[in-house]
Amino acid sequence: MRRKLVAGNWKMNGSKAFINDFQKEFSATVGEFSQVDVALFPPSLLICDAAKHFASSGVVIGAQNVSQFENGAYTGEISAAMLLDVACDAVLVGHSERRALFGEDDCVVLSKVRAAIDVGLAVILCVGETLLERESALVEEVISRQIKFVLNALTLDELSKVTIAYEPVWAIGTGETATPEQAQQVHAFIRGLVAEKDQALSSKMRILYGGSVKPDNAEEIFSKPDVDGGLIGGASLLVADFVSIVRSAIKAS
Ligand code: PGA
Repeated sequence: MRRKLVAGNWKMNGSKAFINDFQKEFSATVGEFSQVDVALFPPSLLICDAAKHFASSGVVIGAQNVSQFENGAYTGEISAAMLLDVACDAVLVGHSERRALFGEDDCVVLSKVRAAIDVGLAVILCVGETLLERESALVEEVISRQIKFVLNALTLDELSKVTIAYEPVWAIGTGETATPEQAQQVHAFIRGLVAEKDQALSSKMRILYGGSVKPDNAEEIFSKPDVDGGLIGGASLLVADFVSIVRSAIKAS
């Protein structure tokens, strides 16, 4: 049985004061979260602060990005080892905003996954199709390309550190969510791709849904058999909404 995971992607939002308030309110209810895993992905500069605030709370703190390079003359970049050094345990790779706005293609995505896994960070690999690709019936082709690029390059041991997040680009930050059936269909397809590599890995690998998950739709989406939780953007900035989504994951477990 896979444990559900609810991950909050704060994107370029937050501050030290925000973390302080968020943690206080979140921790007031933290006792309830033993049946599911929770992770938060603040901006890199706030990781240290978040790690301190959430120390021994069971909440995993992760980064939204990592350099594909190990160290050296890469102005502005942050390496996987540096993230690990500040009590960061996980990283998002391949988010559609990084792919679309920062030109990260499948090669860069794979290099970043490798850099993270090499130092022992867990990875949430984000994949998803645009609206045009969905309307052109290219969902499976796009998802398959994005996933296989990583799947075929890594060993089973390396892949045990990877969680996949299916995030249809048209649903991110738009208020438009995939229906639970649409999500389940793609999640089952993804699990099938992983099963082609290894059956045991496919039954263990968590596949999260992301894209306008809110308190009023989370439980239904999380109840689908191949949906193992969510990657939450906007609603993770409102602690009451985030707590409610975590509760939905518990109910759907
Ligand atoms: P959203 O973002 O929940 O605001 O749609 C999800 C994401 O980008 O991970």
